[in-house]
Amino acid sequence: MSNNQKVRHFLDLNDFDEKTLRGILNLALEIKAKLKNGERPALLNDKILAMIFEQTSTRTRVSFDVGMRQLGGETLMLAGSDMQLSLDETLSDTAKVMSRYVDAIMIRISSHEDLLELAGAASIPVINGLTRRSHPCQVMADIMTYEEHRGSIKGKKITWVGDANNVLLSWVEGATIFGANLYISTPKQYAPNQGMLAQIAASNGLVKIIEDPKEAVKDADLVMTDTWVSMGDKDADERRKILAPYRIDKKLMSLAKPDAPFMHCLPAHRGDEVTPEVIDGKQSLVFDEAENRLHVQKAILCYVFGIEKL
Ligand code: CP
Ligand code: NVA
Repeated sequence: MSNNQKVRHFLDLNDFDEKTLRGILNLALEIKAKLKNGERPALLNDKILAMIFEQTSTRTRVSFDVGMRQLGGETLMLAGSDMQLSLDETLSDTAKVMSRYVDAIMIRISSHEDLLELAGAASIPVINGLTRRSHPCQVMADIMTYEEHRGSIKGKKITWVGDANNVLLSWVEGATIFGANLYISTPKQYAPNQGMLAQIAASNGLVKIIEDPKEAVKDADLVMTDTWVSMGDKDADERRKILAPYRIDKKLMSLAKPDAPFMHCLPAHRGDEVTPEVIDGKQSLVFDEAENRLHVQKAILCYVFGIEKL
């Protein structure tokens, strides 16, 4: 548990138990229903969220920004490259200074160690908006989306095909916490690293590695992938070559259960990790998934500010 008692960070799913995460998901559903009904409760009135982006973003940036505003709060959008931390100011000093100005920080930063340093020194909540290690806000939205369409994720066969990246790591944690059976199909070159293997080993058999994508997708209740080239990956051409057999096309999808949704956190690369007929087809939930980032972000913001009910 990296959260101390005074400050509620949202750094990784593993920092929480199922009850807490379920509470956040339930709140997200309630906030979503209210918004659809034209209601925008001012739960975060007077709160200011600073958002620091060391890397590019569309969904995370816009959903946190709009989410704060719809709940009555305000935002500051800061490019990491414009801040002194891009020269030589430490994350720790940055955290202490920011803690005197704003009410919470959401940060997208490559190094997970840097995220932990920032959170360790901050006296305000810090939210992980993606690191090379993990993307917990994304997987909360993914679970919300699956469950809205197909009911509880517990006991379901969830299949990930592609590269063992940050989104997958948060899925390994999420599947373990929520009791889903996660099957991971990657080529050897882009298989789970030691850190992820340790998480898999701690999953009580819920997470399995099945190299062959056909076997992994067979009878799946949900099929997922992500870009083959994550931010910071340098070997794009090599990746496209090695990962080609892991592309999700209609033939591969046809091995899953007939009503199995396809999900992808976006941005997508049609023709690489997924064909247009799958991502733009009727099994695809990618835009509901993207929308749910907004609702889940709001619930995470409420959680870190100590608001657990409407
Ligand atoms: N899925 C996701 O995090 O998208 P962005 O990189 O656009 O924020
Ligand atoms: N795995 C991707 C996710 C983007 C939202 C990346 O890290 O670039």
